[in-house]
Amino acid sequence: MCGIVGYIGKKEAWPVLIKGLERLEYRGYDSAGIALLREGAFSVYKKKGRVSELSKLVKNKNENELSGGVGIAHTRWATHGVPSDVNAHPHLSNGGDIVIVHNGIIENYLSIKKILISKGYKFKSDTDTEVLANLIEDVKNNAKVNIEEAVRLALTEVVGAYAIIVLSKDEPDTMVVAKVGSPAVIGVGKNEFFVASDATPIVEHTKKVIYLEDGEIATIKRNPKNKKLILKIKTIDNKVKNLYVHTLKTKINELEKGGFPHFMLKEIFDQPESLRNTIRGRIVLEKGNVKFGGLEKFKDELKRLNRLTIVGMGTARFTGLIGEYAFEELARIPTKVEYGSEFTYRDIAEPSHTGLIAISQSGETADTLNSIKKAKKEKMLTFGIVNVIGSSIAREVDAGIYNHVGPETAVASTKASSSQVLLQIMLAIYLGRMRGLSKAKGQEILKEIEKLPALVEIILKNAKQIEKIAKKYKNSDNFFFLGRKYNAGTAMEGALKLKECSYIHAEGCNSTELKHGPISLIEKSFPSLVIAPKDSLYEKNKSSIEEIKARGGPVIALTTFGNKELENIADDVIYIPETLEILTPILAFVPMQLLAYYISVERGNDVDKPRNLAKSVTVE
Ligand code: M6R
Repeated sequence: MCGIVGYIGKKEAWPVLIKGLERLEYRGYDSAGIALLREGAFSVYKKKGRVSELSKLVKNKNENELSGGVGIAHTRWATHGVPSDVNAHPHLSNGGDIVIVHNGIIENYLSIKKILISKGYKFKSDTDTEVLANLIEDVKNNAKVNIEEAVRLALTEVVGAYAIIVLSKDEPDTMVVAKVGSPAVIGVGKNEFFVASDATPIVEHTKKVIYLEDGEIATIKRNPKNKKLILKIKTIDNKVKNLYVHTLKTKINELEKGGFPHFMLKEIFDQPESLRNTIRGRIVLEKGNVKFGGLEKFKDELKRLNRLTIVGMGTARFTGLIGEYAFEELARIPTKVEYGSEFTYRDIAEPSHTGLIAISQSGETADTLNSIKKAKKEKMLTFGIVNVIGSSIAREVDAGIYNHVGPETAVASTKASSSQVLLQIMLAIYLGRMRGLSKAKGQEILKEIEKLPALVEIILKNAKQIEKIAKKYKNSDNFFFLGRKYNAGTAMEGALKLKECSYIHAEGCNSTELKHGPISLIEKSFPSLVIAPKDSLYEKNKSSIEEIKARGGPVIALTTFGNKELENIADDVIYIPETLEILTPILAFVPMQLLAYYISVERGNDVDKPRNLAKSVTVE
């Protein structure tokens, strides 16, 4: 899982490429590199570490060494070979003719490598990508074809997932891009083209983009007569494809931090707006119903569904655990939640009339994507709840609902997760209204949903109080997050948020489970955050708080404004506004995100890019 960028045109390539890598750094950040094609030779610069390290290296070079309008670049999250300068991309072929950047995994690289070694090829790195560079060179030399055809023929021998950008020093006015299973977007400028793993590096240059489909190869080539760059797309099996140019709606200021010190904090504070955008145009209050454009033509199939399976990974799956309650309660559809990765590799007992709901912010999570492919083989109807428009999952599912929360850049999911919960509740109303959920009940929930953005604003106004609590608990080694019913999933999400950003060990647990084992861990240095809104299980949650306090454990209680009694029991109390029980997770998410954020900042961590993680996990 990595980010790739390419540029061909009239600008100096290197600043465009470095800026593009900065935008894609969320995809991986253990090493980075850039290759520039100038005067028939490649200059390749690579550096272990963040893009900023590469940027320093490049900026120290003589301007002459950098000038030129063609280049490719890469930010890496290691899959084959440790993070190092040598394993960083771009990779050159042995003869120095080919240079390549790659996001994905070549599954059969070892067998190809063996053949290439037997032909005398030598390898400097441990990567599958260097094998691909040499395979393309080998094909090009033996078949005596141009770079476009060499890439095409080489890819017929490759098994795996990839988005690649390839240059050949013999054809300095040509760039080849290909994709199977990993994303690639091409930005169409005025006699210039941009290539990237997603549109974020492109949007400041052009709004016109082409999403490459699996099995497609795009070649951008300069016409020697009029010097115009021409883009053509064909498939790996050599069929010419039409170009479909989309217009991006993303604004450049949506990609910046907007004055906040970190993307994570900005994205937490984006939530009133992002929830508004999730709701916008979808509530039909007079009918007590919801409208989803992407589901319209599947109404009949939706009526026939009698089971649902929700798949997702990490936060997305935890939001599914909340959604499960909503689908059963409002739509009366038996629902279960699975890891995408598990669903992919097991027998499905009853696929007929079961709908698969795949939840993913990035729309690129391989485990989730693969589960959709499996479900389609089983003839299940597949839906996506996806944020990134045009992403692989968005295109793979039969029908989809977009979150519309804008780009989420911090590795920790915040505004996407609250939107994922909200969309599931709205979808449950939609499916429920087909199955006997009353108009009045639909209206009651929808009215409360409309208030959510304002309620989140109230919570955000109290961020300072949560910062204070964070300072108090910042040195903890362990943490419990506890909750019940809708908020059992919320507790798991709270624990994930804290552990991934702060590196504090945190466990999310249904509070009812506490007395069946976990409570033995409680002692005075083991705090618990207990989600205890004034709802149907409030008394039970209060008992859990009392049990923990009786054993000397510190408690942060999260409850509803006006409920003062927990101030006498818990060590600290965080308040959320009153709402319907089913909607409390959306509000409870926000203080937990703030707590994770402030504790992580206190501990001096790189909150936007926690160690060992990447924003989208495009490998299994
Ligand atoms: O892009 P996705 O929503 O499919 O990503 C799934 C998980 O990798 C993601 O939610 C991850 O757990 C986040 N780092 C959590 O904050």
